[in-house]
Amino acid sequence: MNVVCVGGGYVGSVTGVSFAALGNKTTVIDINKEKVDLINCGKSPIYEPGLEFLIQQTIGKSLYATTEYHCIAEADVIFIGVETPTAPDGSADLKCVKNAAMSIGENINKNKFTVIINKSTIPTGTGEVVSSIVAEVSGLIPEKDFSVVSNPEFLREGSAIWDVFFPDRIVVGANNQIAKEIMRKLYKPVVTRENYHKLSEQYSNLNWEAPEKIPVFFETDVKTAELIKYASNGFLAVKISYINEMAKLCEKLGTNVLDVAKGMGLDSRIGSRFLEVSSGWQGSCFPKDTSELYLLSEKYESELSIVKAAIDANFAMHRYVVEKIIRFLGCLNGKIIGILGLTFKPNTDDARKTQAEFIIPHLLSLGANIQAFDPQGMEMFKKFNPDLDIKYCDKAEDVAQRADCILLLTHWQEFKNLNWHEMVNSLRFPYILDTRNFLNKQYLEEIGFYYQGLGT
Ligand code: UDX
Repeated sequence: MNVVCVGGGYVGSVTGVSFAALGNKTTVIDINKEKVDLINCGKSPIYEPGLEFLIQQTIGKSLYATTEYHCIAEADVIFIGVETPTAPDGSADLKCVKNAAMSIGENINKNKFTVIINKSTIPTGTGEVVSSIVAEVSGLIPEKDFSVVSNPEFLREGSAIWDVFFPDRIVVGANNQIAKEIMRKLYKPVVTRENYHKLSEQYSNLNWEAPEKIPVFFETDVKTAELIKYASNGFLAVKISYINEMAKLCEKLGTNVLDVAKGMGLDSRIGSRFLEVSSGWQGSCFPKDTSELYLLSEKYESELSIVKAAIDANFAMHRYVVEKIIRFLGCLNGKIIGILGLTFKPNTDDARKTQAEFIIPHLLSLGANIQAFDPQGMEMFKKFNPDLDIKYCDKAEDVAQRADCILLLTHWQEFKNLNWHEMVNSLRFPYILDTRNFLNKQYLEEIGFYYQGLGT
């Protein structure tokens, strides 16, 4: 099929490149020429494992990138994969979505039925907004000349390519039978995994071990599909806040939250995933989506109090980490704290919304000095936190230099293999707080650390 993807960021580039890899002629449109040039040079505009490899395999063959919108006229389907950041009032800012809808309306083929696919996370009811803009600008009739469907992304940064090719489910919200048929055709390779053997040979670098379970292709109406995305992210955030609060209780009871999570997860009704303790959840999705979902519930006077509680518990968890350091070190004024990890999770360069963004200012406000390292996210963290007076280290071990505490916020795999002997000897005080319960407690204690996790 002829696919166009408006947006070349975290959602758009992954979506466009993946559908190109599945054999569709796919054009990614982005207003940012730098991103477009990167893709056309075989480079990834974001740090996402496997993405650059797929771009190199497809660029100029099935993948194209441009800043121009005239390719819209040939499209069978048009993904809207632009950002929907949080507006000051906590709601989703739809400026980019509306601009995309206008550009689509200006260029859409007036003689061919086209499906416009909302891939970005958008508030329930936004499909109608997109449809009315396209109709107004193009003069076309919705559901007769074109149709807007909801196909929310469930991409986890760091494993987004996998999530396109091996999703648990594909949710399609459509109010039009022709649109449904076109969406079934578009996703057939993913649902049937036809050619996957060829793909996995061709893309051997992705070393795929295809899961047994094949994805469910789930059809519903547009608004319900839009809500499924928010409801899913809201629940995942609740689940994480739940285990984080359980970790705090475990510290009081002297029980081990790792075993609690394991014992809970063995119940298939609960499941073991998203029960990993942290200093709280962050990222460009959970905070935005939970905020928008809660505002929606308030707007319709059907408050999602549990989502609100998860949001509050999450900020409390950020504070709890600082309080725990104070309980161990006493007054932080003048202390040096070395921070490992500035991104919101490993395997991404995304540092737009992170735990460190909240925890570091809190530590600075108590008079602490901060030195930090992140393998991929330092540049972006600096960009989004220009006023933070902290030292950025060239290598991870340097965060320990004359420090009174090491605080691990993001569990990058490479942190397991640091020169911990060198670090324990360069610390002023050998204390480490591992907010992910990620490192080897026994080993670190053997070489002289006072090791603390969360809930362990
Ligand atoms: C999330 C959803 O998982 C994805 O389906 C949706 O499309 C976009 O939002 P993402 O934000 O990339 O994906 O990251 P995710 O892996 O969900 O983690 C979000 C935050 O929760 C991170 O800060 C992560 O460290 C934290 N987390 C995750 C935990 O603290 N514990 C867990 O068990 C899992």
